[in-house]
Amino acid sequence: MYYSLLLTAAFSTVARAATFGQWCGKYYQVGAPMPASRPEGSLFPYPSYSDTPLLDFQCVTASSLYLEGDDANDPPMILIDTNITHDVGQPWYGDKSGNLTVEVWVDDWQPITTGSIQVGSLGSLLPFSTANLTASTQAYNLTCKASINGREFWTNSTLRYLPPNPHGGNTVKIDRKSGSLVVRNETGGSDARERIIPFGFYDNYQGSSGTQMYNDTLNRLYAAKQYGFNFIHPVAPNSNSTPWPDWEGFLHYLDVAEQLGIWIMYDMRYTWTNTSSVTEQVTALRNRSNILLWYTGDEPDGAMDPLISTGIAYDVINTLDGYRPVSLVLNCENYYFIQYGLDGSDLLLVDPYPIALNGAWSKRYNTPVNVNFGDSGCDNCNGTFYDITETMDSSIDRARTQGKYRTTPVWMVPQAFDDGQQEFWYRVPTGDEEAVQTVIAYNHGAMGHCAWNSEYSTPDILSNASFIAGQLYAQSRFIIDAHDSRQTVYSNLSYPGINGIDLASWTMYHPENNTHETLVMGSNFNYIASGTFTTFSLANVTGTVKEVLFGNVTQAEDGSALFSLPRTSVAGVILQH
Ligand SMILES: *[C@@H]1O[C@H](CO)[C@@H](O)[C@H](O)[C@H]1NC(C)=O
Ligand SMILES: *[C@@H]1O[C@H](CO)[C@@H](O)[C@H](O)[C@H]1NC(C)=O
Ligand SMILES: *[C@@H]1O[C@H](CO)[C@@H](O)[C@H](O)[C@H]1NC(C)=O
Ligand SMILES: *[C@@H]1O[C@H](CO)[C@@H](O)[C@H](O)[C@H]1NC(C)=O
Ligand SMILES: *[C@@H]1O[C@H](CO)[C@@H](O)[C@H](O)[C@H]1NC(C)=O
Ligand SMILES: *[C@@H]1O[C@H](CO)[C@@H](O)[C@H](O)[C@H]1NC(C)=O
Ligand SMILES: *[C@@H]1O[C@H](CO)[C@@H](O)[C@H](O)[C@H]1NC(C)=O
Ligand SMILES: *[C@@H]1O[C@H](CO)[C@@H](O)[C@H](O)[C@H]1NC(C)=O
Ligand SMILES: *[C@@H]1O[C@H](CO)[C@@H](O)[C@H](O)[C@H]1NC(C)=O
Ligand SMILES: *[C@@H]1O[C@H](CO)[C@@H](O)[C@H](O)[C@H]1NC(C)=O
Ligand SMILES: *[C@@H]1O[C@H](CO)[C@@H](O)[C@H](O)[C@H]1NC(C)=O
Ligand SMILES: *[C@@H]1O[C@H](CO)[C@@H](O)[C@H](O)[C@H]1NC(C)=O
Repeated sequence: MYYSLLLTAAFSTVARAATFGQWCGKYYQVGAPMPASRPEGSLFPYPSYSDTPLLDFQCVTASSLYLEGDDANDPPMILIDTNITHDVGQPWYGDKSGNLTVEVWVDDWQPITTGSIQVGSLGSLLPFSTANLTASTQAYNLTCKASINGREFWTNSTLRYLPPNPHGGNTVKIDRKSGSLVVRNETGGSDARERIIPFGFYDNYQGSSGTQMYNDTLNRLYAAKQYGFNFIHPVAPNSNSTPWPDWEGFLHYLDVAEQLGIWIMYDMRYTWTNTSSVTEQVTALRNRSNILLWYTGDEPDGAMDPLISTGIAYDVINTLDGYRPVSLVLNCENYYFIQYGLDGSDLLLVDPYPIALNGAWSKRYNTPVNVNFGDSGCDNCNGTFYDITETMDSSIDRARTQGKYRTTPVWMVPQAFDDGQQEFWYRVPTGDEEAVQTVIAYNHGAMGHCAWNSEYSTPDILSNASFIAGQLYAQSRFIIDAHDSRQTVYSNLSYPGINGIDLASWTMYHPENNTHETLVMGSNFNYIASGTFTTFSLANVTGTVKEVLFGNVTQAEDGSALFSLPRTSVAGVILQH
């Protein structure tokens, strides 16, 4: 009985699959089945709430990798978090006072560092020496113990201590304290490191050398430079060009990008499940000095690729080039997030496109959309900017509950294209909406921006993106250096968190004069009438205005910041206190 039921289910799945497509595990066409629940096992396994506070002890290397002979440039550190939570960790009886004794070993109990770390703290660093380690492409196992009053907390991770990059090119590390990227150009022989806020666009790579389309592609590369984007993510025209229409033309394109000082996010969307092809591409390009990231699956969760496929591609790339991170983009709101995302990447992008979208109706497929059925173009979205903040928050939080808060930064893919109303959206986003998407994504922890897509974009979107990029670069001391201080803050208006005002702060302390500086970035994403303003002050942030960076912010009589924001607008201000 049991078996025959299973068989029936299996057969009917096959039969349906042949007739009706699925996206994110949902049927979406007229006449397709409408299941009453999501596929078994596909939803994210959130840990349950614990009444007893828990100590979430995390212990990873502060850089995603260390290079032999590079200790002076990037002093090796262990990064320790001892957060108190109610969902991850082991029971903690007591308040947040007291220090834990932390001991760290590699492999067979070879001690590498110890220290005293406060309970409930984030981002403590313990230096360690590589003197007794042999550089290897094989990762070391890291074992960490924290003890206090006879109680012990254990956690494990890995330590990557690699030989000097044998391919030349460049080495790209993830700085786990901030989630930013650190690039070292190996080709020039200099050991200088550049810590960056990656900001770029996907672009359609079109045509073969010498043709008009190819020249247009190159011209968009020059334009990216003009706009101040620091990387570009070229996409091959279609799956027939595996990987590119003409390889020589593509190499020339890479040369031009290199001359311009633009990094490349290298896309393998049509080839990433073909191990031989991935091997050919990574081997051919790993000696280039401007490959920032490898990129495998483009919405593998939407396309429902085999669950282990992103992990397989990850391992292949990592074996060929352990010197750069592997990335991919997820499209579904909640469909095998761990298997596709966390198990298959060092860095995760998310691409909810909620603007001018009806979350309850599929314009493209003419069906209603709900949590179990349909494809509106933005999975489980309501068609508001909260879909973006919610996706950022949940992606980061899911990584956290899997012990990957530090090891898997999340990037935002803003909706920055015109689909000619052919697909799911009713109009092209405005430049203002691009700025809003970016600011709220950074407010919610994004550490990179890769918008879709500069060929289908508008001058309005591109110039606003350019403006915001410049603002973010200029505030890297907050966004990178003060990363752990980021928090949600509120206005003095009612309904905080649901009133269409999104605010976050980053704070740094200056011991030399005992003062603080706080960056506040905000957005009013209400579609209020043009020419009207939403006026508010900050409810729970102290400080007087030091510098208005952008947006309609003035100084009140007491020196505090007064925001007066029109529809879909952004603002940034630095306070001192
Ligand atoms: C720390 O724990 C709180 C819950 O107490 C949680 O909201 C927050 O995301 C955690 N932060 C990190 C970095 O783990
Ligand atoms: C590291 O841990 C993994 C998984 O537990 C194990 O398979 C491997 O043998 C360990 N490596 C070393 C060098 O101890
Ligand atoms: C407790 O740990 C903190 C780091 O989290 C350190 O700065 C401080 O010195 C430690 N205190 C003691 C008494 O060891
Ligand atoms: C290296 O190992 C030796 C022998 O175990 C030990 O005495 C020494 O302290 C270690 N050095 C470092 C820097 O860990
Ligand atoms: C961590 O590693 C140690 C030493 O290899 C091992 O004994 C222990 O079982 C591991 N713990 C976990 C939670 O994996
Ligand atoms: C890396 O350095 C080499 C040699 O100085 C230079 O030619 C190349 O353009 C640099 N690459 C990047 C991306 O800056
Ligand atoms: C493309 O640019 C090249 C180099 O500038 C030029 O020689 C060629 O004529 C251009 N092709 C077209 C179709 O415009
Ligand atoms: C996989 O890639 C290799 C190398 O590029 C190619 O020869 C082969 O045809 C590809 N296989 C498939 C199924 O596309
Ligand atoms: C979408 O709408 C539903 C129903 O009103 C609500 O429960 C949910 O929180 C909303 N999601 C977002 C991201 O705003
Ligand atoms: C502002 O209030 C929110 C909600 O209570 C809180 O999460 C946040 O930490 C507060 N921020 C500051 C700067 O006090
Ligand atoms: C305090 O010092 C910092 C760093 O030197 C400086 O940027 C800031 O303006 C100073 N603040 C005041 C109030 O002097
Ligand atoms: C700033 O907001 C005020 C309303 O509070 C408005 O009168 C003024 O025109 C706005 N300034 C700009 C530059 O939008």
